[in-house]
Amino acid sequence: MTPAAIPHASSVGDASLLLNERDFKRIAAVLFEDSGIHLPEGKSSLVYSRLARRLRVLGLESFHDYCNLVCSEDGADERQAMLSALTTNVTRFFRESHHFVDLAKQIRTRWINPIKAGGRLRIWSAGCSSGEEPYSIALTVLSQLPDAERYDVRILATDIDERILDKAKAGLYSADAVEPIPAEMRNRWVEKLPGGDFSVGAEARNLVSFRPLNLMADWPMKGRFNAIFCRNVAIYFDQPTQDRLWSRYAPLLTPDGRLYIGHSERVGSKQFQSDGLTSYRLAGEVE
Ligand SMILES: C[S@@+](CC[C@H](N)C(=O)[O-])C[C@H]1O[C@@H](n2cnc3c(N)ncnc32)[C@H](O)[C@@H]1O
Repeated sequence: MTPAAIPHASSVGDASLLLNERDFKRIAAVLFEDSGIHLPEGKSSLVYSRLARRLRVLGLESFHDYCNLVCSEDGADERQAMLSALTTNVTRFFRESHHFVDLAKQIRTRWINPIKAGGRLRIWSAGCSSGEEPYSIALTVLSQLPDAERYDVRILATDIDERILDKAKAGLYSADAVEPIPAEMRNRWVEKLPGGDFSVGAEARNLVSFRPLNLMADWPMKGRFNAIFCRNVAIYFDQPTQDRLWSRYAPLLTPDGRLYIGHSERVGSKQFQSDGLTSYRLAGEVE
C-alpha cells in the first residue's frame, strides 16, 4: 500500500483513489502560495472532485504522486492547470446589478464632462473570470457614452487563471448567458450568431484589455482608476490577505473613485468609507 492510499478518517474518494489529509494540506499550501486562495479543511471533497480528473488525464494513481508532480520543476504546467481547476469562476452578466446602476450614475454625473474635455476614464475588473463583468462594465460605459471609442476610455480586465482569460477574450456566450443584459444594450452592442450563440460586439470589446495578473504579486499599473470592481474574489482569501488587498487598492483610486466588492465581502479598512450597498469611496473624499 502506498502512503497516499492509507485511509484516514478525513480521506475522500473511493478505494482506487483516495485524497488523504496530508495530500489535501500539501495541495492547499501550494494553492495558497500561488494565489492567496485559502482552502479550509472542509473543502477536501471539492478538491477531490476537481482534481480526480486531472490525475486520470495524467495517468497518475495517487494524490501523493500528483503532489510530487506539482511541487517539482517539471510540474510547472500542471501547477497552472491545478490552479485553474481549483479557482471558482462562477460569474454572470450584470451580476449584482446595483453596481452597474451606480457606475452609470457616476459616469453621467461626475466623469463624463472631464472625459469629453480630454480626460481619462479607467476601470479595473480584478478577477474578471470569463469576461461577463468587464463586458457589463463596457456596456454600461457605452450606455452613457455611445461614442466612447473617441475618448480616452479603457477597461482593464485581469485574472490569475489564463485558461478562463482565453474564454473571456473570445467574447462568445450562450443565449442563456446574455439573458441578464438589459434588452436595449443587448440589441445594440451584442451580436446574435447564426448558430444561436452571441458575440460581444466590437464597440464593447475594443474598450477592454485582458491581462493575466495575480493579485498577490506586484502590479504593473501606474495610473489611477475611476472604479475598481473586485467582486467575489477576496471571499476566497483569509482575512489578513483581504485586508492587504483592500489597502493596496486605495492609492490606485482617483479621489472620486469607487470600489465595488461582492455581496458577502466587507471592507474594514479605515482608508475607505461606505458609499451604498457593497460600494466604497476613499475616506474623507467627496461624496
Ligand atoms: C467567482 S470569480 C468572480 C468573477 C467576477 N468578479 C464576478 O463577481 O462575477 C473569482 C475569480 O477570481 C480569480 N482569482 C482568484 N484568485 C486570484 C488571484 N490571486 N489573482 C487574480 N485573480 C484571482 C479566479 O480565477 C476567478 O476567475
